[in-house]
Amino acid sequence: MAQRPSWLFRNHRLFEKNSFILLVGILVVVAIGGIIEIVPLFYLKNTIEKVEGMRPYTPLELAGQKIYVREGCHVCHSQMIRPLRDEVERYGHYSLAAESMYDHPFLWGSKRTGPDLARVGGKYSDEWQKQHLIDPRSLVPESIMPPYAFLGGRSLDLSTLKDEMSALKFEGVPYTDAMIANAADDAAAQAGGDYDYEPIKKAYAALSGRNDTIAFRDFDGEPGPPSELDALIAYLQMLGTLVDFSTYEADDLSNQR
Ligand code: HEC
Repeated sequence: MAQRPSWLFRNHRLFEKNSFILLVGILVVVAIGGIIEIVPLFYLKNTIEKVEGMRPYTPLELAGQKIYVREGCHVCHSQMIRPLRDEVERYGHYSLAAESMYDHPFLWGSKRTGPDLARVGGKYSDEWQKQHLIDPRSLVPESIMPPYAFLGGRSLDLSTLKDEMSALKFEGVPYTDAMIANAADDAAAQAGGDYDYEPIKKAYAALSGRNDTIAFRDFDGEPGPPSELDALIAYLQMLGTLVDFSTYEADDLSNQR
């Protein structure tokens, strides 16, 4: 007597004859793989922890980040140090998820025509950064980075800062109403203007737990209202400097695999 076809064999024709049911079936099967990959991330300390020192960008740094995006710096530079020995030895401590928690959009990038910039803050002096942006080849003769000399001559548009900060607040960045209201003055104060900078220092320290993470100085060395160069250098000089890694205790990565 011929063997009866198996249950699976008999019912599989349902999928074979109806492409919509096949599609739903494929989605269910693929989702299982996705869930198995994603769910553990919600439990790993490394991806969910809040770390001391993280704070939102100050208005000047935020303006710098916008210029960074506008000029396409992220097309050539990544901002994510992977936990691999060669990267950590070259760039410093691998990037923590919390370090990009206030980035909208995040700028991890996927291509490195130039080096990773996640910890470039404090690596060079302001003058170096300025000269390098004006004429990269005057400092690194073999560089293929384009010059951005025009940024120096352009004064920073402070009028849009409030709206940008409000939009970020809507996305969950903990800017207070006072921070948003004072955005333009705070930006001018940070760029070395003649403003009282204690309130901004206090406000941001309340969020970060550290009161030494904002640099107040004339980043581009030119007197007058802040330029786009001031903002961009302020941004570059704070990258990767917020978390104090001498006090940060990482889980041993090998335990997390
Ligand atoms: C066409 C690709 C390209 C673009 C766009 C680009 N860079 Fe670069 N950048 C490089 C390369 C290549 C280097 C390495 C050589 C050098 O130092 O000039 C570099 C180096 C740097 C360095 C020094 C990093 C280090 O650790 O030594 C900084 C800072 C930097 N770039 C900032 C910027 C900023 C800010 C922008 C946008 C305004 C930008 N770059 C746009 C290619 C690029």
